[in-house]
Amino acid sequence: MATTLIRCGFVILIGIVCSTSIQAEFEWALRDGFPPPEILPREKAVELGRALFFDQRLSKNNNIACATCHRPELAYTDGLVKSSGSDGDRVSRNSMSLVNVAYNKTFGWADNTIHDLESQMHRPMFGNDPVEIGASTATLDRIIDDDNYRRLFANAFPDQHKPVNFNNIIAVIAAFEVTLISDSSPFDRWLLMDESPSTIAARGFHRFVSLGCSKCHAGLQLRIEGYFNTGVQSTDVGLMKVSGEEQDRGKFKVPSLRNISVTAPYMHNGALQTLEEVLDHYANGPNPELELQGFELTRAEREELLAFLQLLTDTRFLKLQQNSNPTN
Ligand code: HEC
Ligand code: HEC
Repeated sequence: MATTLIRCGFVILIGIVCSTSIQAEFEWALRDGFPPPEILPREKAVELGRALFFDQRLSKNNNIACATCHRPELAYTDGLVKSSGSDGDRVSRNSMSLVNVAYNKTFGWADNTIHDLESQMHRPMFGNDPVEIGASTATLDRIIDDDNYRRLFANAFPDQHKPVNFNNIIAVIAAFEVTLISDSSPFDRWLLMDESPSTIAARGFHRFVSLGCSKCHAGLQLRIEGYFNTGVQSTDVGLMKVSGEEQDRGKFKVPSLRNISVTAPYMHNGALQTLEEVLDHYANGPNPELELQGFELTRAEREELLAFLQLLTDTRFLKLQQNSNPTN
């Protein structure tokens, strides 16, 4: 289903009539450098996905939604070292930001086999190691029994006889996730020459580059594709769990640093509480094999780096009404 939506959306974009039953496409207002994601969601799917993203009724004990662990105001993280699922059991890693997730090639901290948002969603929805949402046919019935959802699904999938099903639920939540695009941080405004940063933040950027941070945290999303072991103390074998290769031990995906000031605690295991601790971690030369040599920072240099990292906070995006819980 998702692929049909995508193809038709794309066809509409290039001006060829697709099908009369396809509704208005999502309207993008993106800045230069932010191409519309390859997945082009429809307006109705996005609205439905938004509602479901915040709805706890899908969860086993009526207590957890995607938004429990991915809170909009925290750039879709949750402020916890590790969150708990519907049964109260802790998940094994720190919650990830969903900002600009549409541009990711793989999903999760250390899994290079998951390439789309729909496949990713199987773990939080149905996984039981531990249970996260714990969705089942019983919880699906709560959605089916809701008149409003029945109407909205019938509207979004007019050709289907029983449109309230997990395939469609996953497709519309993915459509909502694709729209979570943050492109108006002071850093973006600097790149577009709309606005200059403070001298201290500009110096911080140069230090960020000269210290080698931009070897991995580069480009518009401040990340390159790839998995590295940056020496974070952890019992988690990272990418090795999926690949079975010893050389992948302790390797994790390079995360974007967008909105990093609001996504503490940091790293795959939430082991570092503040950005100061992250800087200390790198300053201590965590991994000589990666040439992550240590460095000394004066108080002033540290302040510069922190000021640069602050530039990556897109306050407008974090408050966007269109991404918030629609029932509030
Ligand atoms: C109990 C907390 C919890 C819930 C509920 C939850 N997530 Fe997550 N999410 C996480 C954690 C933890 C990770 C990192 C998992 C890993 O790598 O092992 C993650 C990762 C992700 C990622 C990967 C992001 C990236 O950049 O690679 C996506 C996408 C995502 N979640 C979407 C969702 C959606 C959609 C839902 C609801 C259907 C959901 N999550 C529910 C905790 C949660
Ligand atoms: C060799 C690649 C590489 C270099 C160089 C690098 N990082 Fe990272 N960075 C990563 C990876 C991989 C992670 C995730 C590690 C983990 O979770 O164990 C990460 C995580 C982070 C995080 C936490 C992100 C989050 O969402 O929790 C911050 C902040 C950060 N890096 C800043 C920096 C700074 C500042 C520098 C330069 C001093 C730097 N990085 C250099 C690869 C790199």
